[in-house]
Amino acid sequence: MKLTTLLTSALYLVPVVLAQQYNITYNAFYNDGDSSLSFTACSRLIPTDPVLASFHDFPYIGGTSAITSENTTACGTCWQLDYNGNSIYITAVDTAEAGFFNLTHYAFEKLTDGQTGDYVSAIATEVDSSHCGFCPGVYHSSSEYEQVF
Ligand SMILES: *[C@@H]1O[C@H](CO)[C@@H](O)[C@H](O)[C@H]1NC(C)=O
Ligand SMILES: *[C@@H]1O[C@H](CO)[C@@H](O)[C@H](O)[C@H]1NC(C)=O
Ligand SMILES: *[C@@H]1O[C@H](CO)[C@@H](O)[C@H](O)[C@H]1NC(C)=O
Repeated sequence: MKLTTLLTSALYLVPVVLAQQYNITYNAFYNDGDSSLSFTACSRLIPTDPVLASFHDFPYIGGTSAITSENTTACGTCWQLDYNGNSIYITAVDTAEAGFFNLTHYAFEKLTDGQTGDYVSAIATEVDSSHCGFCPGVYHSSSEYEQVF
């Protein structure tokens, strides 16, 4: 009984939503839908997503320092980025420098309304993967990729 109570309180102490400030930047590597997942920290996703464009959400993909090790379960997680009244959803497919999200130029422009500059400070929240256009553990094959550019 006591253990149950303890466990229950411990669960309540864990915040369900972790919203954190990140620096958001972009990199040419992510712009290229043909970039292989083998160059990312999430190469275990190759069987279902061999290249960046394989992700249903491409070009809304990128790296994040929330991916702290190779092939972590954080690979493929969905994140909401909020900046200046704009919200976008990003599928995390790589790591990044501490405190950074590293996006396609397209996603960066959508988030910032085309702001010039190397980075902005935004709020990132991990959200349910349904926001990124796929169900948990179910990834889209490259054949389903729709050309966006
Ligand atoms: C990540 O997964 C890929 C594919 O399964 C594998 O080739 C690679 O060695 C893994 N990396 C690490 C560090 O385990
Ligand atoms: C963004 O990604 C590129 C390509 O992987 C990498 O060289 C660069 O260091 C990354 N930038 C940040 C801020 O993580
Ligand atoms: C964003 O970058 C600035 C300037 O390099 C730095 O001072 C700040 O700590 C960074 N923010 C985060 C959340 O890492």
